[in-house]
Amino acid sequence: MSVHAHAGSLELPCRRRESNVDWDVSAYLHEYYSRVEPTEKLTLKFLLRTLEQLPAPRRALEFGAGPTLHHALALCGRAREIHVADLRSANLRAIDLWRSNYSTAHDWSRFTREILHLEDAGVANDVAVGRREALLRRRLTGVLPADARCVHPLGADCAGYDLVSSFFCADSATSSLQEWLDFMRNIVSLVAPGGTLVVGALCRCKRWRVGGKQHPSPCIDERHMQFAFDLAGFDRCSHVIEVAAVPDQASNGFESILLASARGPRATWPRNRPAVVTLTGEAAGR
Ligand SMILES: C[S@@+](CC[C@H](N)C(=O)[O-])C[C@H]1O[C@@H](n2cnc3c(N)ncnc32)[C@H](O)[C@@H]1O
Repeated sequence: MSVHAHAGSLELPCRRRESNVDWDVSAYLHEYYSRVEPTEKLTLKFLLRTLEQLPAPRRALEFGAGPTLHHALALCGRAREIHVADLRSANLRAIDLWRSNYSTAHDWSRFTREILHLEDAGVANDVAVGRREALLRRRLTGVLPADARCVHPLGADCAGYDLVSSFFCADSATSSLQEWLDFMRNIVSLVAPGGTLVVGALCRCKRWRVGGKQHPSPCIDERHMQFAFDLAGFDRCSHVIEVAAVPDQASNGFESILLASARGPRATWPRNRPAVVTLTGEAAGR
């Protein structure tokens, strides 16, 4: 078991500063994860569909998990070992609470039931839900501090994962397109050669809300995602980039999301990567 971090001893591998000041775990879980919103149904369907088309990943990473476990609950139906990573220690503590079965931990059973339903198209009973959650508690062997701003978000000795999923992370942390692209490069570096990246992102969003606070987003769309995938050297015929409407989220600052996956990145992005002017000009048509 390789548990690299526990509450109280969380240290970022590249020692960038993290801040929990503008982040309210309870508000986030309450507003987005009290019930299975259409946005999450869409992300789970997309993730499960991607997983179905792959050989079972040996090691999977859910990057920028926040305090959430629904994607890990979906991953653990196929992946033998799962790590989750995030910048904020408050998020990692929430995950550790759930893993340790604390009574105050967030209840993910609605999401577990939905995942089992999507996998089997049947109604999952409480026993099946409990079984899946117990499976994740066994397979979740790493709860890791990470920073997508660093060239090595998990430290220089990270071996890479067969599958990396990252939902609403890089696009939720900055208003700068160039920074978003740098975050994407660093996240892609965690995918082992030949591995798979699955990403969800807010589409054409400048600000999103939680707990009465606004957070920046770089207003990306499918062309930006295509641009990032090309830079990463993902096999073009493996690219899947979809835009899904989520009109119920308009009051939170977005009305659609990007769901994307690709396979087989090259070892490194080109050093002389195109500047943001290329991204906003030629590639994005802006
Ligand atoms: C909008 S939340 C998404 C959480 C979860 N993936 C979900 O789908 O609900 C964005 C997450 O990205 C994390 N994050 C922001 N900047 C980060 C960085 N530089 N490195 C790693 N995680 C970061 C935040 O801590 C937060 O948990």
